[in-house]
Amino acid sequence: MSVEQDKRLAAEAAVAEICDGMIVGLGTGSTAAFAVAALARRITDGLKVEAVATSKATAQAAIAAGIAVRDFAEVPSLDLAIDGADEIDARLWAIKGAGGAMLREKAVAAAAKRFVVIADGSKSVEAIGAAKLPVEVLPFALSFVVARLEELGAAVTVRPDYWTDNGNLVADCRFAALADPHALAGAIDAIPGALGHGLFLDEVDAAYISAAGEVTRRDR
Ligand code: A5P
Repeated sequence: MSVEQDKRLAAEAAVAEICDGMIVGLGTGSTAAFAVAALARRITDGLKVEAVATSKATAQAAIAAGIAVRDFAEVPSLDLAIDGADEIDARLWAIKGAGGAMLREKAVAAAAKRFVVIADGSKSVEAIGAAKLPVEVLPFALSFVVARLEELGAAVTVRPDYWTDNGNLVADCRFAALADPHALAGAIDAIPGALGHGLFLDEVDAAYISAAGEVTRRDR
């Protein structure tokens, strides 16, 4: 069983939760792409839903697959959102944003009544913190924000030649240890010009993790 098959199985398990009439948030990345494909198959079989996409890439893929995509700017709440993660632990704390979409992903996750992470077993960790933590940065405030992130203990790399769908930069942060992720999230949230980050600590309601072809669901 390959990692790709595990991504597909996790995605299909989450997509099985979708019911007629729902507005569904679609995540970004290679695992979320399997959810888009699985949802498109269910729509072909008669499921009636609308979707909101967390990135331009996902919107394009979803529309191409025949999914009705609405503008999130006009959607105050969603029934369910499904997205991948870079790391997820037993507390359902996650690091997201390797694909740079964490700001939109967090807004969509927060708007959803239920937020479900899908992942292959390699993303499942005892405690989050080894993955780089991406921070979306207002270009105008880049030097100031990077200096503040370094004061918080981060080794910072600004992604070269990369802009988010929102026209901002991404600072990837490595921390020696994530002793208190909630405190860190609050500290980053408090930096003017840091527009969002990939720490998802309270958002995740459940996760489908597939390892060696076996899907396990974790609930909060
Ligand atoms: C996108 O910005 C990310 O949050 C992704 O959800 C995360 O990086 C997982 O991506 P993969 O499914 O491609 O590993």
